[in-house]
Amino acid sequence: MSIRADFPILQRSSRGRPLVYLDNAATSQKPAVVIDAVNNYYQTCNANVHRAAHELAEQATEAMENARIAVRNFVNATREEEIVFTRGTTEAINLLANVLSDRIKSGQDIVITELEHHSNIVPWQMLAQRTGAQIKVIAIDDYGNIDLDDAANKLTPNTAILAFTHVSNGLGSITPAAQLIAQAQAVNALTIVDGAQAALHLPLDVQALGCDFYVFSGHKLYAPTGIGVLYGRYDLLCELPPWQGGGEMIEHVSFEQSTYQLPPYRFEAGTPNIADAIGLGAALSYLQTIPRAQLVSAEDRLVTNALSELRQIPGVRIVGEPEQRSAVISFLLEQGHPNDVGTLLDQQGVAVRAGHHCNMPLMQRLGVPGTVRASFSLYNNDEDVTRLLEAVEKASTFL
Ligand code: ALA
Repeated sequence: MSIRADFPILQRSSRGRPLVYLDNAATSQKPAVVIDAVNNYYQTCNANVHRAAHELAEQATEAMENARIAVRNFVNATREEEIVFTRGTTEAINLLANVLSDRIKSGQDIVITELEHHSNIVPWQMLAQRTGAQIKVIAIDDYGNIDLDDAANKLTPNTAILAFTHVSNGLGSITPAAQLIAQAQAVNALTIVDGAQAALHLPLDVQALGCDFYVFSGHKLYAPTGIGVLYGRYDLLCELPPWQGGGEMIEHVSFEQSTYQLPPYRFEAGTPNIADAIGLGAALSYLQTIPRAQLVSAEDRLVTNALSELRQIPGVRIVGEPEQRSAVISFLLEQGHPNDVGTLLDQQGVAVRAGHHCNMPLMQRLGVPGTVRASFSLYNNDEDVTRLLEAVEKASTFL
């Protein structure tokens, strides 16, 4: 109960019933401490960072840089210079797909997996078009598990980059990240992990994983929208050129040429999203008050219960049965299109996502038009599961 009380929005109703929010893989709700941190910045020390010679700017800069330190600790990076603030996961991947251009030769492979979100497909296709590289896709099995034999076949000395998701947003599959990274390193490929769905739910240690880059969004872990993180190994970041040019990212500018700052500022052109970076710092401090094991076991219990009860409802088909599942359940009602089911659940105050979840190729691979997706977070409880089940049963009688 105390955790739910931390999230003001959970007091509201939806369609005349108490809100059941099960769309956490799309975005999480925000605790009051995060909303207050953003408000407090605007009310007490709003100023641009890193440049002005006044007290407000000093305080804003300190607050933002403290957030960077909080992120460093959260991912266990070796230094805060390895943490680049971005607009989110999508921008972080686009940044990489641009600054890595010079490292890709025509004919080389960029390897992804069938589980990827569009944001970990399209930027690589754009890079491949610019460079003459080709995309190779590691297969999954029918349950939504990565096929490690196929990974071994696809990762070859011709592989320049392996980019893959840590947790599938569509099915909840937890991928064997450490194994994939080791396989990629054995062929000298760069490794990029999309942690958008993992950062909240899995223990995160970039040094233990050994990846070159790890990216995630703040808004899926109780922070505001519009702020995200690119972690990169410092030596590698130092070798890479900037992406966007402008203020903040330069060392010296003349009309003839410019020189650039060291990371992370080299990759943070223009005024950054100061308020939401501070909000991200507050979200990470909030998360520290809840033992990770408690968070994971509470989510696991709810997901396990919801899964076994959903399976009992006639017409329900669970889509994806991965060996290791994070806090996502995708399903279909045989009688209805997922969008119709989503609407019927919404009418009962149960918020889920329905459709392809920005996973069109994955849906095609599984032979479904889309799914209904219930995704869980820290503040969900048994009552939410009961309401979901009631709503699905009722929806099935309408279809
Ligand atoms: N990537 C987010 C989702 O899976 C938006 O819903």
